[in-house]
Amino acid sequence: MSRLNRKGSMLIKPNIIALITSSLIVFYIFSSSRLILLHPHQTWIHNLDSSPKLRDFVVDHHNKPKQDEATHHLLAKNTSSEPFPNTHHLPKPKLQLSSSTEKKVEMKKEIFHDKDVFNEEYKEMNRSLKIYVYPHKKDDPFANILLAVDDEPLGNYASESYFKKSLFKSHFITKDPKEADLFYLPFSITNMRNDKRVGVSGIQDFVKEYVDEISEKYPYWNKSGGADHFYVACHSIGRSSMEKAIHVKLNAIQVVCSSSYFLSSYVPHKDASIPQIWPRKGPSPTNAPSRRKKLAFFAGAMNSRLRENLIKTWNNDSEIMVHRGRMKTPYSEALLNSKYCIHAKGFEINTARIGDALYYGCVPVILADHYDLPYADILNWENFSVIVSSLDIQKLKQILHAIDYNHYVKLQNNVMQVKKHFLWNSFSKDFDIFHMVMYELWIRRSHLRHFY
Ligand SMILES: *[C@@H]1O[C@H](CO)[C@@H](O)[C@H](O)[C@H]1NC(C)=O
Ligand SMILES: *[C@@H]1O[C@H](CO)[C@@H](O)[C@H](O)[C@H]1NC(C)=O
Ligand SMILES: *[C@@H]1O[C@H](CO)[C@@H](O)[C@H](O)[C@H]1NC(C)=O
Ligand SMILES: *[C@@H]1O[C@H](CO)[C@@H](O)[C@H](O)[C@H]1NC(C)=O
Ligand SMILES: *[C@@H]1O[C@H](CO)[C@@H](O)[C@H](O)[C@H]1NC(C)=O
Repeated sequence: MSRLNRKGSMLIKPNIIALITSSLIVFYIFSSSRLILLHPHQTWIHNLDSSPKLRDFVVDHHNKPKQDEATHHLLAKNTSSEPFPNTHHLPKPKLQLSSSTEKKVEMKKEIFHDKDVFNEEYKEMNRSLKIYVYPHKKDDPFANILLAVDDEPLGNYASESYFKKSLFKSHFITKDPKEADLFYLPFSITNMRNDKRVGVSGIQDFVKEYVDEISEKYPYWNKSGGADHFYVACHSIGRSSMEKAIHVKLNAIQVVCSSSYFLSSYVPHKDASIPQIWPRKGPSPTNAPSRRKKLAFFAGAMNSRLRENLIKTWNNDSEIMVHRGRMKTPYSEALLNSKYCIHAKGFEINTARIGDALYYGCVPVILADHYDLPYADILNWENFSVIVSSLDIQKLKQILHAIDYNHYVKLQNNVMQVKKHFLWNSFSKDFDIFHMVMYELWIRRSHLRHFY
């Protein structure tokens, strides 16, 4: 009885905790301002007024001038009196960049907001981050949902199962909850969806019951209102999965593929974006910038107005190749032979295309307004991608032509540098997706521990 009372007195209202967490996160972001120097979501500037859900938006006023500058920087190049350089006709450049080691160092730094901070924090994270996983028996009737499954994860939602497998094998796991910085809710949204006993309609109840159960059985959830808990989901169904477990949505760290500023279920800065990546094996193929003859490429299902618009606009273009649905020629060939590869929002904001583009050394063009891009608080997306507002589809060619060849080579070079952060490995390696997600969790880890 006295134990219960003591716990009760320690119980802080979850919404107060949420408030404290968000203040701390905001404070953290401001105090480490360089981490978020450049916001990738310049596109929302154009849509700000028409957005009905602005309340969902954490507007960072300090960043706004920067964003405007950035947008200007990207789009304003057509003011030049020079005609747009046609990259196809440029003399083949010898990649001068690699001749100067100084430049190389500079370039490496460019993909990060602050590489020194990252390196330092990464080491600390790698050394000290500890995660407790709620234990489940192998013969649990829902072992398929709660444990790592042996089959090789495949397809669009692989990131979810790859993460779990990597975590279970990693040195971040602790069996001692007192030592833990974070608690992992190990349920798999994709496997719930595929399990007839749960299915799409049963996911919300499953999650609610799961959280009720662990908060009865263990003291950790109640202590923080879930603020030091996290889950990982890649399937978009995950975005409505927490509707009945509202404190998961409000307090826990949601690491998801469908990370949009436009969704009420996603809280930027508290939550984190994980890239949607197909599993890949073997060495990654590549092609030099000068041998990429096509300007830009897109192929995909017509499942959004944006894509319809993209196809309608560039259907017959000789430089921007857009395809409705699957192509007859290999997808990889198109990715290897194009300078830019378009990630166009479809049914969801996220697709595997960014990962595909990077894998094949193609500079991604992001046409997905409000996408909270993966690792946006670590990497400077401006330096290895081109972010275009959906309102500027008509100007796409103009925008891409305005990027001169040397700048393109820099972007492409940076793509080669960031690639490794968008790859899963069967045995995870430093700086791969798994470790980047660990890092995202690390910078979001509970600042509430001292309240216990
Ligand atoms: C780019 O050019 C178009 C017309 O050529 C013009 O309307 C637009 O304002 C220019 N954009 C910028 C950012 O200067
Ligand atoms: C991270 O930790 C692992 C295991 O202790 C170690 O092998 C690896 O070298 C570390 N990486 C870095 C960058 O510190
Ligand atoms: C946590 O809080 C819930 C709801 O207030 C309560 O039912 C549960 O018993 C608490 N858990 C523990 C371990 O005290
Ligand atoms: C595309 O080009 C072909 C041949 O150049 C032409 O026959 C066709 O009408 C064009 N389609 C559109 C939509 O412009
Ligand atoms: C990298 O981004 C910064 C601004 O964030 C910009 O000044 C610099 O020119 C960019 N470099 C490349 C290669 O895009």
